Amino acid sequence: MISIKDLSFSWPDGTRAIERITLAVAKGSSVGIVGANGAGKSTLVNHLNGYFLAQEGSISIGGTVVSKKNLDRIHKMVGLLFQNPDDQLFTARLYDDVAFGPQNLGMDRGKIAALVEERLRELNLWELRDKPPAHLSQGQKRFASFAAVLVMNPEVLVMDEPTADLDPKNRRKLINLVNGLGITKITVSHDLDFVWDTCQRVCIMNQGRMVEEGATRDILSNRALLEANSLELPLRLQR
Ligand SMILES: Nc1ncnc2c1ncn2[C@@H]1O[C@H](COP(=O)(O)OP(=O)(O)OP(=O)(O)O)[C@@H](O)[C@H]1O
Ligand SMILES: [Mg+2]
Repeated sequence: MISIKDLSFSWPDGTRAIERITLAVAKGSSVGIVGANGAGKSTLVNHLNGYFLAQEGSISIGGTVVSKKNLDRIHKMVGLLFQNPDDQLFTARLYDDVAFGPQNLGMDRGKIAALVEERLRELNLWELRDKPPAHLSQGQKRFASFAAVLVMNPEVLVMDEPTADLDPKNRRKLINLVNGLGITKITVSHDLDFVWDTCQRVCIMNQGRMVEEGATRDILSNRALLEANSLELPLRLQR
């Protein structure tokens, strides 16, 4: 479903953020991407819906190359949840942020209203629908971003630090929600217990490179491998 080939990216100041990344993700699978701060995870996943375009190498989603001319198709297929919810929410009213995507697709008004209400209720945001996103708590913003992405029914869901700011109950709710979605999923997270609970495979990034890929339980129980990449065992394996 996702094919990344030899992808590299440099920032304008010359920082080489990712270096020759190659990765294939099967349709319907769930893959975690882990690594220390600055490893290049966000830079990598921000390429998946065309937010960044490939400088070197290429990406395709469901056979469609991620390029300027295919952006409309890519946006319909790939929902990207930014690490910072403030990058996601930009209208003056939560409801409008969630309705924005479907409206852009020219969907029927009645259908949009039903879809938006369903998503807002599912994420306990219905009562907050008239608030400006800027006046929501961090966790509420995180769920609001989820609503805005899920309302589009993406075929691929990319999440960058989805559990940041969530209380334990909402974190559990998110695990159940994510596991109930049969679509292709990519999750970037420092919450290795969340990755353990939601991902079949895991990739480790270190200084812009993809250094290891394998089954979640093999990778995340390998203390030496994790420590060599400035990571620690999931809490459930620490004692
Ligand atoms: N606007 C920018 N200009 C220059 N360098 C940048 C810019 N944004 C990020 N970087 C650099 O790119 C590299 C990768 O950053 P990135 O945000 O992808 O890391 P990350 O793995 O997502 O880290 P974190 O776990 O902290 O979110 C870092 O070295 C960072 O300093
Ligand atoms: Mg990041």
